[in-house]
Amino acid sequence: MITIAGFNTAIDRFIQIDALTPGEVHRVRTEKVYAGGKGVHVAQTIAELGEHVRLIGPIDAAHHSLIGRQMSARGVLFRGVEIEGELRQCLALQEEGGSITEILGQGPQLSQIEQDALLRDFRRSADQSELVILSGSLPRGFADTLYAELVEYVHGLGKRCLVDASGDALRNAVVAKPFLVKPNRDEISQLVGHPVINIEAAQAAVIALRARGISMPVVTMGDMGAVAADDTGVWHAQLAPTQLRNAVGSGDCFLAGMAVAIKRNMPLEQALRLAVACGVANAESNETGFAERGKVESLLANVKTSRLQAAPNARGEAMH
Ligand SMILES: Nc1ncnc2c1ncn2[C@@H]1O[C@H](COP(=O)(O)OP(=O)(O)OP(=O)(O)O)[C@@H](O)[C@H]1O
Ligand SMILES: [Mg+2]
Repeated sequence: MITIAGFNTAIDRFIQIDALTPGEVHRVRTEKVYAGGKGVHVAQTIAELGEHVRLIGPIDAAHHSLIGRQMSARGVLFRGVEIEGELRQCLALQEEGGSITEILGQGPQLSQIEQDALLRDFRRSADQSELVILSGSLPRGFADTLYAELVEYVHGLGKRCLVDASGDALRNAVVAKPFLVKPNRDEISQLVGHPVINIEAAQAAVIALRARGISMPVVTMGDMGAVAADDTGVWHAQLAPTQLRNAVGSGDCFLAGMAVAIKRNMPLEQALRLAVACGVANAESNETGFAERGKVESLLANVKTSRLQAAPNARGEAMH
């Protein structure tokens, strides 16, 4: 079992319009509503790849059945903690040319009782799991040290913890040395304090994260692919989509691929191959944050991997 803390469940509305003009009235061409939030994306892709997964996250009365139905249809065990406030709503507006404008809701403020209920369910599920994932931003009410505390809790169980976060939640989590962190280009730039704009800079960043005690740091660079390190070296993997449709949530699907590979003890090169195939499978479809198994399998062989550097030592001294 893999447990995911996805405390920022959302309702995602994907709307296609002709063109976006500020101040004008727009008519919708097609509209789809999905269960959303990073935890949902990671969970449904892990289930699709064939692993047991339980998602712990908030839910409100109005959307309980929508999210419950989607999660069970996708094979995810969803442990929803019902909250008083209304779930976060996220809007993606796609214009005819393909460009996407996102409007992300602020989300509810969670009471102490609601926070405690989520954490109680999280701990109970983590106790029964081999692998734990902390995914996405924290709703208002939680301290930005929460992920660091949960990483320590998971380590106390003798289990590996994967973290996908940003800003202070990520900065604090890194200090607790999770097994894996997966910042994207913006998140790693913020973390290291300078722009990470190319593969060389991403390579330096993963080596620096190794030096800080992260066993398997990964930096995802959008269309430039991803760079990751472990004790076999630093690797790069990349695949150009045949048709780019919607890359939002590709990082979440990428993380799902990494988690499944880690659970199956695959070597890093193969793990990256699976993760990139998941990221690209998501980017090639309209739905946000879901990689279809058949599509992933058809892309796997096309992913290009290369070793940028042989085994950097645990302290990252190979960097200099
Ligand atoms: N335009 C693209 N072309 C090729 N590969 C892509 C593209 N977008 C995403 N990918 C693949 O998906 C992976 C994750 O994408 P990205 O770095 O954009 O994640 P992210 O910003 O964390 O996404 P999100 O947070 O929306 O899920 C990349 O490392 C890459 O392998
Ligand atoms: Mg991301």
